[in-house]
Amino acid sequence: MILVTGGAGFIGANFVLDWLAQCEEGVVNLDVLSYAGNMENLATLAEDERHIFIRGDIGNSALVSELLQRYQPRAVVHFAAESHVDRSIHGPETFIQTNIVGTFRLLEAIRFYWYGLDGKPKQDFRFLHVSTDEVYGSLAKGEAAFTETHQYQPNSPYSASKAASDHLARAYHHTYGLPVLTTNCSNNYGSYQFPEKLIPLMIVNALAGKPLPVYGDGQQIRDWLYVKDHCSAIARVLEAGVPGEIYNIGGWNEKPNLEIVNSICGLLDALRPQIFGSYRSLITFVADRPGHDRRYAIDASKIEGELGWKPVETFETGIRKTVQWYLDNSSWVENVQSGAYLAWVATHYQGRVDEDSVVR
Ligand code: NAD
Ligand code: DAU
Repeated sequence: MILVTGGAGFIGANFVLDWLAQCEEGVVNLDVLSYAGNMENLATLAEDERHIFIRGDIGNSALVSELLQRYQPRAVVHFAAESHVDRSIHGPETFIQTNIVGTFRLLEAIRFYWYGLDGKPKQDFRFLHVSTDEVYGSLAKGEAAFTETHQYQPNSPYSASKAASDHLARAYHHTYGLPVLTTNCSNNYGSYQFPEKLIPLMIVNALAGKPLPVYGDGQQIRDWLYVKDHCSAIARVLEAGVPGEIYNIGGWNEKPNLEIVNSICGLLDALRPQIFGSYRSLITFVADRPGHDRRYAIDASKIEGELGWKPVETFETGIRKTVQWYLDNSSWVENVQSGAYLAWVATHYQGRVDEDSVVR
């Protein structure tokens, strides 16, 4: 048995689905089902007895301790977090609560559980902390990609809260000897991603004929990795990573945002042509994100060299699969566009996007 936190969210759900498709070992999935958590992501596991879903908060120490005692997991993979940078700018408090306080309480419960183990189960136990490249801050043009020893320079409340959680995970290894593995990954995309993030937002807006809001000049660079490649990297680190070590995960796929949006439009033009012409006509430049990091890039040499992991998808194959998934799963999209989603879009983009400025 392994315990996964945040397994109803985008990456966590992909991880749980892939895990159960590839091995027999069961999963206890602890997720509070925030706006980003969605049981529909796990619908195909409804009859699968190896998947035990528990709705609950990582910050609920009594619940987490009880689950650890009841299921005796050999590992915990920690995805649960508030994950959207723009939301952290509007309201940082929940990021501090979940990402810092929640991770702290989870670590405390796991420490006491691990102390109580003996022999091989104690030796083999692992806590895998899933983190982000955003903790390293922003790179200038031409600067070398982030290695595992890059200085921490988080710039948003989100990345600061993730950096704090990384430091806690590190300290629990250093001070208590807890067998901690930390992964720092670049931007993910793929199926089940909530349409507040760049790629699904652009697909969903384009299909609805709405503006495609590109922040600033659209030349900010992100390093994109298909979500299933991130999941295979986490499984590999869990299997062979050395406790106390950090592994950067990425696919050497740096691209400016505007190029990403253009690629999506090109694919949609081919797969779902519109009478108004190209979806590119919906592209709208809007006010920039405050404190917007200019460039991220991951140096994935360590995980490739030491653990033999490599991504399977190129950006071209991954983005095609992703666009096709959103076309094939319109009911999933409709279901996540609840009142809460509409309220977020109204608050965040109001005044930023002028609907009349879009040329159709
Ligand atoms: P997400 O927002 O889609 O999902 C987060 C999940 O955590 C949701 O199911 C939510 O309900 C759950 N959750 C939130 N607060 C919780 C709490 N207090 N207790 C229990 N569950 C809670 O996020 P994601 O994009 O899948 O990211 C997962 C992890 O990977 C995060 O830790 C994030 O920082 C990290 N990460 C994400 C990316 C990316 O590009 N999305 C890249 C690198 C790292
Ligand atoms: O780098 C890893 C991180 O990637 C993860 O840790 C985060 O959880 C994840 O949300 C993501 O953060 P970003 O801020 O890079 O992702 P987002 O999809 O929000 O934005 C990607 C880029 O696109 C960023 O430069 C901002 C820009 N953008 C985003 C939105 C939502 C736009 O131009 N317009 C938009 O409407």
